[in-house]
Amino acid sequence: MFEKLKKHWQVNGLNLALIIATFALGGSLCGWIGRKLLLLTGMEKDITWWLLYILLITLLWPLCVLLISYPLGQFAFFKKYVAKIGRKVAGKHKAENPLRLAIFASGAGSNAKKIIDHFAGSDKVRVALVVCNNPTAGVLDIARRADIPSLLIKKEHFFSGDHYLTALQQAGIDFIVLAGFLWKVPAELIRSYPQKIVNIHPALLPGYGGKGMYGHFVHEAVLAAGEKESGITIHYVNEHYDEGNIISQARCTLTNTDTPDTLAHKIHKLEHYFFPRTIEFLLQQL
Ligand code: GRF
Repeated sequence: MFEKLKKHWQVNGLNLALIIATFALGGSLCGWIGRKLLLLTGMEKDITWWLLYILLITLLWPLCVLLISYPLGQFAFFKKYVAKIGRKVAGKHKAENPLRLAIFASGAGSNAKKIIDHFAGSDKVRVALVVCNNPTAGVLDIARRADIPSLLIKKEHFFSGDHYLTALQQAGIDFIVLAGFLWKVPAELIRSYPQKIVNIHPALLPGYGGKGMYGHFVHEAVLAAGEKESGITIHYVNEHYDEGNIISQARCTLTNTDTPDTLAHKIHKLEHYFFPRTIEFLLQQL
């Protein structure tokens, strides 16, 4: 249960202990103040007394936990927590403006699926659009099954025209994720989404990147070079293939028996775990 709470609230063990202490002390404090206030009225301890008591502690509870949270260093957490309860009470269960994500993909879409699954049910992030340049790509089925609108793009319009900027703006897109998208992103689009377009590459950049380095070509090159390890790179997108600033990398070791297929499998495992989580982290910083 504690592990679940740590994950849910994204806190470490010490903070979790301090949060629980704040709940306990804040609860006791509001009970104590509620009783003292009612004592001052001199009322009988009847049903009205209990109703008033419940009302008082409900009103006092947020103030008490905020007060206790301060010296325990948990004020930031409880400020958010109390605000969230306030929103729920006011009937606004969902964040009013979740961040809207577009996934650009042209292939099978296994990464797109993991990202869609990761944010399903999130009230902070919505995968709002899947952009694809290949009408037979598996990613379009994935989008359809998840009820996510897709946009099939054409080369002429992507590289001239308005680069689909109007369509992205109309869909309210805040952040773009390239997950197996092979076209170079036009400079105008990059300028419109500064530090808001990220890509995943199936090798440890700056090695094995650049034009033509995708899918099996990457894995074949890595194995042919006799590398002892490979991995994934998540990076911002700039005007050059695979050259934007690196955000994070994860590695896997290679053995003599590895083939492009077994390596692809290892890489996909890393991608499926790290990509959605890295995107979530980046979106939290916006
Ligand atoms: C991934 O390996 C990714 O690194 C690369 O394209 C591949 C897409 O795979 N950019 P999938 O379509 O997500 O399965």
